[in-house]
Amino acid sequence: MRNADPIALIALHLLRFPMTVTLRFLPDDKTVQAEVGEPLLEAAKRAGVSIPTGCMQGSCHACEVELDGEEVCSCITGVPPSDTEIKVELYSDPTW
Ligand code: FES
Repeated sequence: MRNADPIALIALHLLRFPMTVTLRFLPDDKTVQAEVGEPLLEAAKRAGVSIPTGCMQGSCHACEVELDGEEVCSCITGVPPSDTEIKVELYSDPTW
């Protein structure tokens, strides 16, 4: 799209990727609406889901969850844009 109107491109992007996303935390099966970019850990707290934490800097992996199949540290990961519900799978690690 050469010479496309930047405002129209932003509008198209917002239609494709709304600013709020539905997160489904498993295995608790709790859902919450989250803002794109909101820390995953904060969205979990609002959903009433407890995720263990440690360093809060992305190095200890205590807060690791699976976000649509990809392992991420929830303390440093923002909610990604999506036009469909995002599944967040919690681990239960007996060593933590
Ligand atoms: S709390 Fe240590 S990586 Fe998130």
